[in-house]
Amino acid sequence: MSIKNVFIIGIGTMGLDIAQVFASHGFAVCAYARSEASLDRAKAKINGTLSKRVARGKMTQDEMDFILHNIDWETDYNKLDRADLVIEAVAEDSSVKHEIYDQIEALCPERTIIATNTSSISITELAAYTTRPDRFIGMHFFNPATVMKLIELIRGMNTSDETFNAIEELCREIGKEPVEVSECPGFVVNRILIPMINEACFIVQDGVASIQDVDTAMKLGANHPMGPLALGDLIGLDVCLAIMDTMFNETHDSKFRACPLLRKMVRAKLLGKKTGRGFYDYSAK
Ligand code: 3HC
Repeated sequence: MSIKNVFIIGIGTMGLDIAQVFASHGFAVCAYARSEASLDRAKAKINGTLSKRVARGKMTQDEMDFILHNIDWETDYNKLDRADLVIEAVAEDSSVKHEIYDQIEALCPERTIIATNTSSISITELAAYTTRPDRFIGMHFFNPATVMKLIELIRGMNTSDETFNAIEELCREIGKEPVEVSECPGFVVNRILIPMINEACFIVQDGVASIQDVDTAMKLGANHPMGPLALGDLIGLDVCLAIMDTMFNETHDSKFRACPLLRKMVRAKLLGKKTGRGFYDYSAK
């Protein structure tokens, strides 16, 4: 099937970057948020990012205009009737996702594939909230989605080959590299990456090394582009905690026990970049 119209629900950090990726490849994108205030924030953010790239000579004004021209900003679901693909990128809460699928399904044409960008919730469980589990798939982008090449494609138990193949081809059309992953908590990347970030939290909590030294150690000693604590701040410490908790709850394996310091920081709303403070302070930037 040919996918041309993409409707993205939730334009936080991930949804907005995903919208930019599709728009830059000429897709007609609807970017949906619940409120005008969220839309205004998203528009200001994308305008700021793209303008900076133009100013630095990384993008032409025409390319920026092309991206913005391809995005419609929506606070209702009226344009779902033309969606070939819906990408849901809202909070990691299955009841919130369930409510959204209930609202949108009747408005989508038969052919519409629903993809979720969930990083931890079971695709089979989410698919079962819909009446089209064969046309439901996990499409897991990485932060920052404009830059990171990988998309993990996760089949739910009932995802059809037709759906999988269509989305696999689409990933390549937007310049990404898909990998096929069977459903399991954390998929591949997060199952490796998030316990590493969690372990970095333990190292700080135990007073083994400072925040800066942990990050320097992993940058210079393991050649990571950024340290695990800075990466936790970029991903969102609440997201990291949610992934650890899901992996623990699904497996009861103690290797997935969340670090108490991580939990404490989330309770204190020190979530990282998005709240201005996590392991580092971003308030001045
Ligand atoms: N749109 C388009 N391009 C952009 C962009 C944007 N919004 N923002 C940055 N870029 C481009 C830059 O222009 C640059 O390209 P160039 O070579 O043409 O100049 C390139 O992306 C790199 O950007 P920067 O120069 O600003 O930054 P760095 O070189 O310092 O790299 C980084 C930043 C890509 C974040 C790098 O530090 C990195 O790879 N970090 C690790 C990220 C990671 O591991 N992400 C995975 C997180 S896990 C996840 O998301 C899963 C979830 O479920 C938890």
